[in-house]
Amino acid sequence: MNNFKGKKILLIICGGIAAYKSLEIIRLLKKNGSFVKTILTKNAKKFITPLSVASLSQEKVYSDLFDHKNESEMDHISLSRWSDLILIAPATANTIAKISYGMADDLASTIVLAANKNIFLAPAMNVRMWEHISNKENIKKLKNFGYKIIGPEIGDMACGEFGEGKMTEPQSILNFLNNYFESTKKKNKYKALVTAGPTHEYIDPVRYISNRSSGKQGYEIAKSLKKNGFDTTLISGPTNLEPIPEVNLIKVRSAEEMYNATLENLPVDVAIFSAAVSDYKVKNKENEKIKKKDFMNLNLEKNPDILANISKHNSLRPKIVIGFAAETNNLNKNSKKKLSEKNCDWIIANNVSDKSIGFDSDFNEVSIFYKNNSIEKIPKMKKSLLADQIVSKVIYYLN
Ligand code: CTP
Repeated sequence: MNNFKGKKILLIICGGIAAYKSLEIIRLLKKNGSFVKTILTKNAKKFITPLSVASLSQEKVYSDLFDHKNESEMDHISLSRWSDLILIAPATANTIAKISYGMADDLASTIVLAANKNIFLAPAMNVRMWEHISNKENIKKLKNFGYKIIGPEIGDMACGEFGEGKMTEPQSILNFLNNYFESTKKKNKYKALVTAGPTHEYIDPVRYISNRSSGKQGYEIAKSLKKNGFDTTLISGPTNLEPIPEVNLIKVRSAEEMYNATLENLPVDVAIFSAAVSDYKVKNKENEKIKKKDFMNLNLEKNPDILANISKHNSLRPKIVIGFAAETNNLNKNSKKKLSEKNCDWIIANNVSDKSIGFDSDFNEVSIFYKNNSIEKIPKMKKSLLADQIVSKVIYYLN
């Protein structure tokens, strides 16, 4: 089945002998109806010419980061935003190392760092280079980032040696991409629900009880789910965050509203409860503003535990239920307790006493507690990147 029609592919060609095969990749993509924009690294131009790439792709070829003429028409950000996916073929050991360290010293590496699209690499290098421990570490890092590695294959090399390191053949690379597009279509059938932000439990029309939460992590998760083809509903308490294009945003204020909105939007395949829900609401809420002379004692009653109720629901329980735990102490003990008491599949826990992560920060550092008792520590990273990691684990779990 051909899934390439109308697809926009951003192809990055690095400097290796396999670069000549990239011309065939362009030819096949074009033949199958894709649009192809190409970036040649400085060294790639030593193997193939911009003219042959431009002729085959029928598009301008990009190469320099500071090319004012091209940059004004389409800069490194727009190039990534334009594409449906980014393919790096051949991906040399040098480029692999650069992007695994987040370097951005040329157009190709800058695009990768700025990308908001799925990235595929078809490595090509000498067998010793491929097997070198530093290259292996870099590849492992890229896989953890969620990048997809195609090949390399075993065979005779241009340098005369034999082993693993040959770039996968163009037609096989296309087959790989075709399967990816096919699985994205299937993923579209998956539905996801995310709760995010705080809730406000009103005391009177101007005062409320709340929890600290910016909602950023939940919004990033919803964004990543959408990016990966999920039909996504985001139920959000009051936040200052912008709606996410094509995500069904339901704005609520109280825990009760959040609970009702959640029930109304089930069933889903995956539910991720990142909201900081107020555990209590005010029973003796006033409809008029309370004057300070009219001192009152708050009479609190418990809010429904949304996560626990959905997770224990007989008929509406999603295939995978993920809770969050924001803790200031006893992270392990409290997270394990929440995992079992709330009957969820994973608890994503962070230590909110560390000011550089959590709450208003763009960064987070979490541990994932799984039902099978294993614990995975995820290092400090941007909330957007963490969201991508969580979503790729969800996809793995669902398939
Ligand atoms: N949660 C929920 N509904 C509630 C309370 C919490 O859905 N009424 C969810 C949160 O979205 C989060 C998880 O439960 O995914 C853990 O919330 P947390 O506030 O840490 O746990 P609590 O059960 O409130 O426990 P405690 O406050 O005692 O730590």
